[in-house]
Amino acid sequence: MIPTPHIGATDKSMIAKTVLMPGDPLRAKFIADTFLEDVVQFNSVRNVLGFTGTYKGRKISVMASGMGMPSIGIYSYELYKFYDVENIIRIGSCGGYTADMKLYDVILAKDAWSESSYAKVQSGYDSAVVEGTKALNDQLLQIASDLKIPMHVERIHSSDVFYRENFEEYKDIYNQHGCVAVEMESFALFHNANVLGKKAACLLTVSDNLVTHELTTAEERQNAFTNMMKIALEMAE
Ligand code: ADE
Repeated sequence: MIPTPHIGATDKSMIAKTVLMPGDPLRAKFIADTFLEDVVQFNSVRNVLGFTGTYKGRKISVMASGMGMPSIGIYSYELYKFYDVENIIRIGSCGGYTADMKLYDVILAKDAWSESSYAKVQSGYDSAVVEGTKALNDQLLQIASDLKIPMHVERIHSSDVFYRENFEEYKDIYNQHGCVAVEMESFALFHNANVLGKKAACLLTVSDNLVTHELTTAEERQNAFTNMMKIALEMAE
């Protein structure tokens, strides 16, 4: 089933075995323009841009996921199932749930807790926690250590809701479930990897903090996320 309803690549070889997934299509383009050589664009359906190139001579792809679990659920499923992608590494932003998650800190999501129905509906999976792939996490930890980039390894919250009427609920989610930050995609990504026998990991950079109310601008985020990108790019094959 190639091309798929949402990805226009006409051949599996147009996409590398490892795909980096930022949420934002323009960040995917920025990564391709800034870090990759011999870049070929393989997707523009709905402006969800996807590129394949080389990093230090090794093949890697970067494609946007869009925002939220329904969106990353579609793109990651099609990449794994129909394009034979083996590894997806989400590279995203998150909101810190504790004061020690400082702006620009990098978090490796050990697992994701969610109140989302995504996994239950997708396959009947009935737990609120899904783990990232240990083999990928071990590689990412080694790379971060070699690059001397500090990284928190923690449970994160994958939320379906950005604007909650009671924004203080984050305190309960931290206290009851141990989530140190919030984003909106990893639970679905990790679940798809598990049901399809593939690998997934998630690196996050703290873009805002719910305790201290610190915030980065869209412009600051574009460049400041380079640490996370450098770690992820080393996963090229
Ligand atoms: N991504 C970055 N900051 C976030 C927040 N505060 N909530 C959900 N997703 C986010």
